[in-house]
Amino acid sequence: MQEWTHISDVLKDEMAGKETELRGWIYRTRSSNKYAFVVLRDASDIIQTVVDAQNVPKEDFEAACKALVESSVIVKGKIMKEPRAPTGYELHITSFKVVHFAEKFPITKDQSIEFLADNRHLWLRSRKMTAIMKIRSTVFGAIDEYFKGKNFYEYHSPIFQAVQCEGGSTLFDVDYFKQKGVFLAQTWQLYAEPAIFALEKIYTIAPSFRAEKSKTSRHLTEYWHAEMEMAWSEFTDIQDHGEALIKHVVKRVLERNQPELKLLERNLKTLEATIAKPFPRMTYTDALKILKEQDATEIPWGKDLRTIEEDMLSKHYDTPIIVTEYPKAVKAFYMKEVPENPDVVQGCDFIAPEGYGEIIGGSQREDKIAEIEKRLKDQGEDPAHYQFYLDTRRYGSVPHGGFGFGVERVISWICGLDNIKDAIAFPRTMTRWTP
Ligand code: 4AD
Ligand code: MG
Repeated sequence: MQEWTHISDVLKDEMAGKETELRGWIYRTRSSNKYAFVVLRDASDIIQTVVDAQNVPKEDFEAACKALVESSVIVKGKIMKEPRAPTGYELHITSFKVVHFAEKFPITKDQSIEFLADNRHLWLRSRKMTAIMKIRSTVFGAIDEYFKGKNFYEYHSPIFQAVQCEGGSTLFDVDYFKQKGVFLAQTWQLYAEPAIFALEKIYTIAPSFRAEKSKTSRHLTEYWHAEMEMAWSEFTDIQDHGEALIKHVVKRVLERNQPELKLLERNLKTLEATIAKPFPRMTYTDALKILKEQDATEIPWGKDLRTIEEDMLSKHYDTPIIVTEYPKAVKAFYMKEVPENPDVVQGCDFIAPEGYGEIIGGSQREDKIAEIEKRLKDQGEDPAHYQFYLDTRRYGSVPHGGFGFGVERVISWICGLDNIKDAIAFPRTMTRWTP
């Protein structure tokens, strides 16, 4: 199995004076008839290289002068400490081989967001996107690690589904051999609940699809959804796992991705607070009081919190907050009533700090079949399509619940992004499905 030296391996004092070979792409380049100064990048970092016409074969010097940005190269040379170089070291080249001479790279400085989106396949190579994708990789690994560490089984649900779970208005219709009534998954939930009777505690990380007609900085039509479902839960278990998962993910990123957070110029205040402090928990009714007292914003009881109100609330805290016990009418059909107050349900939204919005939605699940059927009908759904789901309440029903964690929403917050689109390599939105 091949291993090769990366730039970050040689940006070290103990490497000074040593010979090394690096592989990478040309990040910046300029030359005269005596020298070529070529900044190289690889997955790990960048390094300035100096090609002196007197120290390399003639054809190597010519290649170094001719090769354009993004040409792929294999170079050899000696590492020297150089405080003026962009990453503090320089490679004094003894051999410069071009693997592929790139054509003129279309992306140059200061291009429009639209141009970069059209050239997303090339923009991925930017230092910003590389940093975000590394953090994303840590986030996925940390989610897995969290759930496996708590003895959850990884379980997979279908993407083609004949039911809705989160409201009919954001369903994507599929032309399923000309059949109607087949959709892309909004969530794994209705296919996860049947499996807790076998596995008890399960999780997944999978794509979810929402036909969001809104163009916002928080909505994708295809996003990655980390979901969990567990038997025997109490409502507090759902909140406790959500909080512990977020803490674990943020902790891993802080441990492993300091260089990337620095490159993104991320202020770490809310990330550090998130791993250090318990998340404030409040009911929806309390949240309305806070909005009234602290933001002079009066929301009539029963109305859902909009993005703008969530943002106002989140500004008062430096960690995510957990809002619970929403009015039944604004939440999904499967959320369990609060026994002593059936106007509200045991549902929770986690709202990220700094205005990054809802990052987790979860609940304890309703177990009364008649209540579920009534709420489905209220939404204009035919309970006949949900009989497989209602069977979960017919044969050994248990208290249970779960949540969904919006992976790109969390990455957006961790990285401090302006738009959720940068949290995924090839974002899909209402107006963008290419490249
Ligand atoms: O709140 P939601 O709709 O909840 C569910 O889907 C439940 N069935 C989950 C469960 O209990 N298993 O979605 C969960 C999370 C939201 O909190 C949000 O973070 C994210 O998914 N999300 C989106 N992320 C990006 N783009 C969108 N269009 C999103 N819609 C929801
Ligand atoms: Mg939600």
